[in-house]
Amino acid sequence: MQNFILLLSYLIGSISFIVGLKMLSHPDTARKGNLYAAVGMTIAILATIFLYKDDSGNYLGNYPWIFGGLIIGTVIGTMMAKRVQMTGMPQMVSLFNGMGGACAAIISIVEFKHLMHKQANTETTSTITEALNSIIKLVTTYSNPSLILFTILLGLVIGTVSFFGSMIAFGKLNGNLNDRTLPAQQVINIGLLLIIVGLLAAMVTGFTGIDITVLFWALFGVSALYGILFVMPIGGADMPVVISLLNSFTGVAAACGGFLYSNPVMLTGGILVGSAGTILTILMCKAMNRSLTNVIVGAFGGNKNGAAQQEVGGAYKEISMSDTAVLMAYSKRIVIVPGYGLAVAQAQHICHELEKVLEEKEVEVTYAIHPVAGRMPGHMNVLLAEADVPYEKLKEMEEINPEFAQTDVVLILGANDVVNPAAKNDPASPIYGMPILEVEDAKHVIVNKRSMKPGYAGIENALFFQPKTSMLFGDAKKVLQDLVAELKAL
Ligand code: TAP
Repeated sequence: MQNFILLLSYLIGSISFIVGLKMLSHPDTARKGNLYAAVGMTIAILATIFLYKDDSGNYLGNYPWIFGGLIIGTVIGTMMAKRVQMTGMPQMVSLFNGMGGACAAIISIVEFKHLMHKQANTETTSTITEALNSIIKLVTTYSNPSLILFTILLGLVIGTVSFFGSMIAFGKLNGNLNDRTLPAQQVINIGLLLIIVGLLAAMVTGFTGIDITVLFWALFGVSALYGILFVMPIGGADMPVVISLLNSFTGVAAACGGFLYSNPVMLTGGILVGSAGTILTILMCKAMNRSLTNVIVGAFGGNKNGAAQQEVGGAYKEISMSDTAVLMAYSKRIVIVPGYGLAVAQAQHICHELEKVLEEKEVEVTYAIHPVAGRMPGHMNVLLAEADVPYEKLKEMEEINPEFAQTDVVLILGANDVVNPAAKNDPASPIYGMPILEVEDAKHVIVNKRSMKPGYAGIENALFFQPKTSMLFGDAKKVLQDLVAELKAL
C-alpha cells in the first residue's frame, strides 16, 4: 500500500510538472502553472522522505538534516525571489540553475562511493577487444554495473559543467567578472572535451588499469575547468542563451539521477527541463539569426565578413515633451516598442498609464515585442505583464511588422539593436541578418533613450538620424511621467 501511495505521488508530481510547464506558456496561466508544478513536486518530495524504503526495508531517516536543509533553502530562495529586480533576473536564474547542476554532481559523487563500496574490486581490462566488449555490454544490458557507472559519470560531468558554467555566468551578469579569452581558447576547450571523453571511456572499460577513484576526481576537475573556460569568453549579453543551454544540461544531469534511482518523477522533470532548455536555446539563436556555435565561439560585436561597416552619423533632431504629447494625442494608431532601457528604468507601470491616457483620447495603442528585446527570453512580456498590460496588446514581430505602415507614431522606449536597420541593409554589420522591428515604415518615430550611446551590440543606429525620427532624451521613467502629465493637461 505504502509503495502504491509513493508511486501515485510520483505520478501526480510528473503530471503536475507537465501541466504546469504547459501553463507557463501563457501569462494568464503562468502563475497557476508554476504553483501546480511546485505543489506536485512538494508531494513527490514529501512522499520520498516519508514513504521510500531502501532494499533492506529502511526509511531514509536523517530527518533533522533533511528538514534543516529544506528550511534553510526555502528561506533563502523566498527572500531572493522577493527582492530580485527585473534586471537581476538572469543572474538569479543562473544561480538557481547552478544549484541544480551542483545537486546532480553531488548525487554522482555519493553514488560513485556506493558503487565502489559494492564492487570493491573493479575489473580492469587489458586488451582493446575486452574494452570494446565492455562498451557493447554497456549499451545492451540494462542493469550492467558499467551502465550504472556510466550514468553516474555522465551526471558528474554534465552537473559539474553546469554548476561551474552557471557560477561564471552569474559573476559576469552581476558585473563581478569580465569576458576573458585565453590564447587558443577553442583549442584548449576542445582538448578538455577530448580528455573528458577519454577519461569516461577509460573508467567504463577499465582499460588503463589506473585507480578508478583517481580517474573519477580527475574527471571532476577537468569538467569543472571546462565549465569555467567554456563560459568565460562569451559576451555578457549572450549569457541568456548560455544560461538556457546550461539549464538544459542541468535537466539532463537530473535525468541521469532519475535513471540511477529508477525515480520516475526525477526522470520526467529532468527530461522536460533538458528538452525545454534545448528548445529555448534554439529559439533564441533563431531570433538573433545566429548559430549556437557563433554564440559560443564568436563575440557578438565581431565583423562577419571583414568588410567595412557603413558610416552612420550626421544630424539628429530632438523633440520637446509638449510636441510629443500633441503628436501622440492627435494620432489614430501608436505602437510602443519596449527594450532593455525600459526594464533598466523600471518604467513599465508608467508606460501602462500612458497607454490608458492615450486610449481615453481614443488612440489605439499596441506593443511590438521583438523576441530578443531585453536581456532574457520573454523579458518584455514579463515586464509588461507585471504592470497589468493586457496580453492581447502585445504583438509578436511577425504580426506587427506589416502594420507599421498604417501606424502614425512609433514610440521606442529604451530599445536600440532590435530596431537597427543595419540588420537589413549593412552586410558588414555584426547584426546583419537579425530580424528587426521595421519601425521605419511608420509616419513618425520617437526614440526615448538617455544619450546617443549604442546598445548591446555596440554599433551606431542609422534610424536615429533619419528625417522621420525624433529623439526624446532622458530616463524612460521620468520621460514617461512628464509625458503622461503633459497629455493629461491637453
Ligand atoms: P539594447 O540594444 O541593449 O539597447 C538598450 C538601450 O536602452 C540603450 O541604447 C540605452 O541607451 C537605453 N537605455 C538604457 N537605460 C535606459 C534608461 N534608464 N532610460 C531610457 N533608455 C535607456 O536593447 P534592445 O533593443 O532591447 O536589444 C536587446 C539586445 O540584447 C539585442 O542586441 C539582442 O540580440 C541582445 N540579446 C538579447 C537576448 C534576450 S534573450 N533578450 C539574449 C542575448 C542577447 P542609453 O544608454 O543612451 O540610454
